[in-house]
Amino acid sequence: MSLNTVRHDYKISKADREKQHGHRSFLLWFTGLSGSGKSTLANLVEMELYKKGISTFSLDGDNIRQGINKDLSFAPEDRTENIRRIAEVGNLMVNAGVVTLAAFVSPYIKDRENIKTIVGAENFIEIYVNTSLEECERRDVKGLYKKARAGEIKNMTGVSAPYEAPIHPDIEIITDHQPIEASVKSILDIIVEKLKIEE
Ligand code: ADX
Repeated sequence: MSLNTVRHDYKISKADREKQHGHRSFLLWFTGLSGSGKSTLANLVEMELYKKGISTFSLDGDNIRQGINKDLSFAPEDRTENIRRIAEVGNLMVNAGVVTLAAFVSPYIKDRENIKTIVGAENFIEIYVNTSLEECERRDVKGLYKKARAGEIKNMTGVSAPYEAPIHPDIEIITDHQPIEASVKSILDIIVEKLKIEE
């Protein structure tokens, strides 16, 4: 769609806001199967950042799909649109100086590449929450896998819809192999460095 709009240049830059907040801002993107632990991890990481006085905000698939994206299904083109909108919202938040944590299945590589284009590669940290389908199904916290196997839900990621795992994620968490505290720590160790403003 072509719109007759002209971009307005804001007087206060991202760098100005980062200075005001006292840390850099970026988008932490958690991807993985439903039930892999994305939201749990994102919440714990956010709590630790919050305790350190970092300005943060969380965007989560299950919540966002009840609000801004409630018109979208789980068909491939709607997932693409879901992720595009979140990337745009994430970009606004990052420009506002806020460390933004997004937890979405985001099963397609091309959609995650598009996030990078929207927010800028330097502002995007991809965290692959690598939990096996067997383990997600064993947990089945929301009962969705059972329904999917019974044919009551279509397009279920991992069962009747694909999940394209990241090839070179910035961080990979293999939740089957380590306790959650260790996963949180390994994410924090990496991002605490990235929060520092270069003088
Ligand atoms: S995404 O694929 O478009 O990125 P998103 O993260 O927003 O998905 O939403 C995933 C959440 O919706 C899951 O955690 C699960 O609770 C719920 N859900 C309902 N139906 C499906 C489905 N067919 N596939 C995956 N998740 C589903």
